[in-house]
Amino acid sequence: MKHILDLRPPRGAPYPVWCGADVERGLEHVWRELNGSSPRRAALVSDTTCDALFGDTLFALLTRLDAAPLRLTFLAGEEHKTRATKASLEDAMLTAGIDRSACLVAVGGGIALDLAGFVAATYKRGIDHINVATSLLAQVDAAVGGKTGVNTELGKNLVGAFHHPRAVLLYTGALATLPPSELRCGLAELIKHAVLRDADLFGELERWAESPAVAGGDLRPGDELIARAVTIKADIVAADDRDAGVRNLLNYGHTAAHAIEAASGHRCPHGEAVAVGMLVEAQVAASEGRFPAADLQRLTTLLSTLGLPVAPPTRFADAAAFVAHDKKVKAGAIRCAIPRAIGQSEPEHDGSWTRTVSLAALERAWEALSCSA
Ligand code: GLY
Repeated sequence: MKHILDLRPPRGAPYPVWCGADVERGLEHVWRELNGSSPRRAALVSDTTCDALFGDTLFALLTRLDAAPLRLTFLAGEEHKTRATKASLEDAMLTAGIDRSACLVAVGGGIALDLAGFVAATYKRGIDHINVATSLLAQVDAAVGGKTGVNTELGKNLVGAFHHPRAVLLYTGALATLPPSELRCGLAELIKHAVLRDADLFGELERWAESPAVAGGDLRPGDELIARAVTIKADIVAADDRDAGVRNLLNYGHTAAHAIEAASGHRCPHGEAVAVGMLVEAQVAASEGRFPAADLQRLTTLLSTLGLPVAPPTRFADAAAFVAHDKKVKAGAIRCAIPRAIGQSEPEHDGSWTRTVSLAALERAWEALSCSA
């Protein structure tokens, strides 16, 4: 594994991000760096799918490192990312006598890292954790930045905490276990980072999307592209880790995406919804002369080359009610974070990183994309 950066949050300790296929060497290295020669217990937490794939190896490694690991699993799936699952993990840790000096090692995709990170945030008022990200979506997004949480009956991620990990391992060797549909979802977030801040990376992604590997069905983007996308997110989080300013940019595409997900009864996966959401919001800006039409076309081509959807899968009438529930709605106004061009983002005149978009403008963009598909 390669050390790609140290994320320095505005508050709290800096933490390293490693990327690569050799997860055992990576975890051993960060464990020794974090703990020196002092013994410390580990709670190894993953969902049942990831535990079956990676649990034995990581458990054996932590045992060799004298971490006396407690191995805990929960059922895979968004429906299990709940307060009840969190409580059952906490109860198991309490019963096993895990104390405040322990370090939780969270292994999995976004669901596992969000949930296990939230356990770490509140267990005995907060313990250290290490994120081992095994899905592309988690590698380019959830593993880095300190957002943790669970869903409730009323919506996703409604209860949670900001709690940065002490180290992050982007275990890209695990991507070989993912179906193309899941890789595509991670690619949507990776592309989002390029659109926000890095036109060169966007160009690299365009070239990669046309490569023989992708044409042959291999959608794994490679460590270099992943590392560059994560560096963009890390820079943003280093400036604002609490969604108070520039971090809002990471919600580009998400106002429309959350409405699409909800209107589809959550049958449309998050990454696919983000792909369409980016196009809807860029179309809004393009129609106001605030996003180049040529860049909108490039984004459409890149997404469709990679097999991501480029037209809304739901009618606007079905999604409109959910737009109003978006967490970025302020005083009844819909707020979107939209870059100015591929690779370029800037704050509004009032210094904020989101701007008001009318429901009518959103509807026009939605219809324009539905018609052009
Ligand atoms: N996934 C958006 C963020 O980390 O802020």
